[in-house]
Amino acid sequence: MYLLVDEKGRKYMVKGTADVHTNYGVIKADELSRKKFGDTIETQMGRKFFIIKPGIPDFMEKARRGPQAISLKDCAMIAGWTGIHSNSRVLEAGVGSGILSMFLANIIAPEKLISYEIREDFAKIAKENFERYGINNIEIKMKNIYEGIDEKELDLIVLDLPEPWKVAGHAKKSLSVDGFLVSYSPSIEQSKKFCDELNGFMHETIECLVRNWDMKVVRPYSRMLAHTGFITFARWIGEGL
Ligand SMILES: C[S@@+](CC[C@H](N)C(=O)[O-])C[C@H]1O[C@@H](n2cnc3c(N)ncnc32)[C@H](O)[C@@H]1O
Repeated sequence: MYLLVDEKGRKYMVKGTADVHTNYGVIKADELSRKKFGDTIETQMGRKFFIIKPGIPDFMEKARRGPQAISLKDCAMIAGWTGIHSNSRVLEAGVGSGILSMFLANIIAPEKLISYEIREDFAKIAKENFERYGINNIEIKMKNIYEGIDEKELDLIVLDLPEPWKVAGHAKKSLSVDGFLVSYSPSIEQSKKFCDELNGFMHETIECLVRNWDMKVVRPYSRMLAHTGFITFARWIGEGL
C-alpha cells in the first residue's frame, strides 16, 4: 500500500496495482512501482504527490465503514488508560467495521485480538478491511457477548455496543485480576446503566475532547469533532468492594 499526499494534504491510499485518478490528473501504476517511500511522483498535469508508507491511523481513516466507527482520539484514550502493549490479551465486541480492531491489533501484536460480532454483514466489511491492509492477528467470532465470553485471563475487554451493562456481570469471570472492562457509548444514559452494574470494579467515566489550532492565526479552529462518546474504564479488583 502507498499513501499519496499532495501539497494541500489530500490523501489517496492505493495498492499501486492500477492507475490512480486524482482531481489533478492520473498517476501511472508502472511509474509508482519504480518509486520508493519518501520519493515524489507527478500526475500528467504536473501535480506533485509525496509517497508515504501508510500506518494504522491512515488505514483507520480510509477503511470502508458499515456501522458508526469509533474515532482515533477515543481509541488512543483506551490504549493509554489501560496500558495495553505487545502480547496483551484483548477481546472486543462488536467488531463493526473493524476500525477499533485494527488499532488494538496493531498494539498487541503478535498476540491475537478476539472480536465478537453478531452481524455477518458487518463482519464481512471488517474482514475485507483487515485483508486489504494486511492485518492478520484478528479472529472474528460470530457470537453474542451478552450470552457469555469463552476466553479467560484477559487483560482488557472493550465494548462498543448498545447494551454494555449486559456484559458487566459475566465479564469479571474472563478478566485477570486488575484487568480492564472498558465501554464506549455515545449516550450518558448507557454509561450510567453500565456503571450501575459494575460490582467489584473500580471505575471512572471520561469524555475526550481534542481541539485543533490554526497556527497561522494562532487560535483554535471554530469547528471541532466534539462529542463522540463517553468511555468508562472499569478495573476488576476482585469481589472485595
Ligand atoms: C458501533 S458498532 C462497533 C464499531 C467498531 N468499534 C468500529 O470501530 O468499527 C457496534 C457493533 O456491535 C455489534 N453488536 C451489537 N450487539 C452485539 C452483541 N450482543 N454481541 C456482539 N456484537 C454486537 C453490532 O452488530 C455492531 O457491529
